[in-house]
Amino acid sequence: MSITSTKWGSSPAGPAKLFTLTNASGNQLSVTDYGATITSIRIGGAEMILGYDELAGYLGDQPYYGATIGRYGNRIGRGRFSLDGNLHQVPTNNGPNALHGGPEGFDKRRWVAAPKGQQCLLMTLFSPDGDQGFPGNLTVTVAFTWTDDNALRIDYTASTDRSTVVNLTNHAYFNIGTADTVLSQELTLKAGRFVPIDGEAIPTGELAEVAGTAFDFRTAKQIGQGVAADHQQLKLVNGFDHTFVIDEQTEEAEATDRLREFALLHDRASGRKLRAFTTEPGVQLFTANFEPGQFTRRDGSPLPTYGAVCLETQHFPDSPNRPAFPSTRLDPGRTFRSSTVYRFE
Ligand code: GAL
Repeated sequence: MSITSTKWGSSPAGPAKLFTLTNASGNQLSVTDYGATITSIRIGGAEMILGYDELAGYLGDQPYYGATIGRYGNRIGRGRFSLDGNLHQVPTNNGPNALHGGPEGFDKRRWVAAPKGQQCLLMTLFSPDGDQGFPGNLTVTVAFTWTDDNALRIDYTASTDRSTVVNLTNHAYFNIGTADTVLSQELTLKAGRFVPIDGEAIPTGELAEVAGTAFDFRTAKQIGQGVAADHQQLKLVNGFDHTFVIDEQTEEAEATDRLREFALLHDRASGRKLRAFTTEPGVQLFTANFEPGQFTRRDGSPLPTYGAVCLETQHFPDSPNRPAFPSTRLDPGRTFRSSTVYRFE
């Protein structure tokens, strides 16, 4: 077990470092303080996520590979919301909507990193009042723990001095197999409902039952079988880019400290499995529905459509404007807490 760090070049936010955590099995997790970004997860020498080996890749055009997303992951309709009668307008960077905390989100910041023991790396960020339009001085910590049984545990905390909204997630793009796409990988999601969206990827407000639809992953199903289905919601975004409501959580419930198993990804060809747990009420299933070659991979080759899958644990999109959804509000004196575990088996 060890944590090593190296200088990793210079970003507009300052010099970057790359930290590598090696567990007792010799498997490795690498994280940079630029964007509190997970750059690599190597199990038995095989790479589990998309990303780059050099900082330059992250400074170019790339879709949030492995980054910590905040202050508000996913979308806020028109970038507008009110808190206690005060209207807040945050920058729009995704058509008419705000996405992933704005143009200079937490993914583009230099975090303060410090190892905590042999298996945990703690990252801290101060986001001042008005940062990307959001109210309140917010202090965020993200602890990345890499266990000997190949589990990556991510624990988030945040606190504020003024009421604000918070929705933090990690944007790892998993491909646990050896094929170019994840279409043949089987996914199980413990989610009986999902959040349907409109043409601009904003929730319609309904929570739809998955039963009898392409969104039903309650028993293992190939991702390819899902994306190939004839469903209006899939056509809107060329695949899955939807929040699933994780079972055993009522609509009113806040994130608790209870980790619930919500996903299993299985690559039969290699025998590899990824099992995931979270305290969050939802998971954004994103099947990397990009145009072929819109982005590049680690080796510089073009990323094909469906080249990876994201399981972004979070509250639902546009929650600040949806009183019926679990609340993303954070008040002074309270501590936001959220945990997610991705375990490789
Ligand atoms: C996802 C989002 C997608 C896309 C992606 C980043 O979280 O739902 O629509 O924006 O991030 O490219």
